[in-house]
Amino acid sequence: DALVALSKAMPKTELHLHIEGTFEPEQMFAIAQRNQVDLKYHSVDALKAAYQFTNLQDFLDLYYQGMSVLLHEVDFYDLTMAYLHKMHSENVVHVEIFFDPQGHLSRGVAFAEQVNGIHRALQDAKQQWGMTFKLIMSFLRHLSEESAFETLELAKPFLPLIDGVGLDSSEVGHPPEKFLRVFAACKQLGLKVTAHAGEEGPPEYVWQAIEQIGVDRIDHGNRALEDDKLIEEIKKRNLTLTVCPLSNLKLCVVTDMTEHPIKKMLSLGLQATVNSDDPAYFGGYMNDNYASLIRQTNINKEELLKLAKNGITGSWMDEETKTHHL
Ligand code: HPA
Ligand code: ZN
Repeated sequence: DALVALSKAMPKTELHLHIEGTFEPEQMFAIAQRNQVDLKYHSVDALKAAYQFTNLQDFLDLYYQGMSVLLHEVDFYDLTMAYLHKMHSENVVHVEIFFDPQGHLSRGVAFAEQVNGIHRALQDAKQQWGMTFKLIMSFLRHLSEESAFETLELAKPFLPLIDGVGLDSSEVGHPPEKFLRVFAACKQLGLKVTAHAGEEGPPEYVWQAIEQIGVDRIDHGNRALEDDKLIEEIKKRNLTLTVCPLSNLKLCVVTDMTEHPIKKMLSLGLQATVNSDDPAYFGGYMNDNYASLIRQTNINKEELLKLAKNGITGSWMDEETKTHHL
């Protein structure tokens, strides 16, 4: 219908996207073969059939398996370029993408191979289409703070290519305060800071991300809605929430898309945005996320335009670039 057409045509941003989560099965098998790595699944269909998750951990187990075929700079380039091509075709004009260095370092893949491949694709997309970007390195929260510090050391020669740091992987049991000192060190280096919080974890984790880490935005944030004081704090600090509708559905953060809280977030005055998280695993990219919201929640035109605008104001672009995209 008309709103879906509008959502496809309008310029959009992506602020919550794990590049390893854009690994389509066909490309995964092609790169596995190229690198002579064995995948546990023996066909594209068998792999796709396994994409049934009841929680975050179910998904993460497959996500780490999938990324295990990425070995060389060109693999990271090809993965990123395939994603950026799709985003250009969906009128996405700015992307802020996460990568998980520890997920590759643990397999002996050097930091340089990862970051150079991803960054070269981002630069090519900027040159070809004027697509702007930020690159965010995420710490895996199921690992120790010491491991995060080691990763930060390895990242230091590449900091000109890295705009910020994030915190992802298994949330419950790994609160933001576990990473207090490493995030403080990142801030000292001038990096922007975000963290996944309130996807499965309690409102307390969102409080910690805000008050102890001092995040510049919040990834997901769904469970913040359980705490009125927290809602007020997020508004007071004008923190953007990078919400991921299809991800929430696939990981059972919501039971049905008709119950997705994004409309409620907007009506509360929260700066919600629409993002795709791990689109190859969750059944859709940017435009699919918007279409699903439009068809299953009764968001109206004003809400739709506000979500897109929030994606620009909540991004880490400089003010001049924001003005250019608005
Ligand atoms: N949540 C936590 N960690 C992740 C996710 C997610 O949605 N995607 C990739 N790593
Ligand atoms: Zn995520």
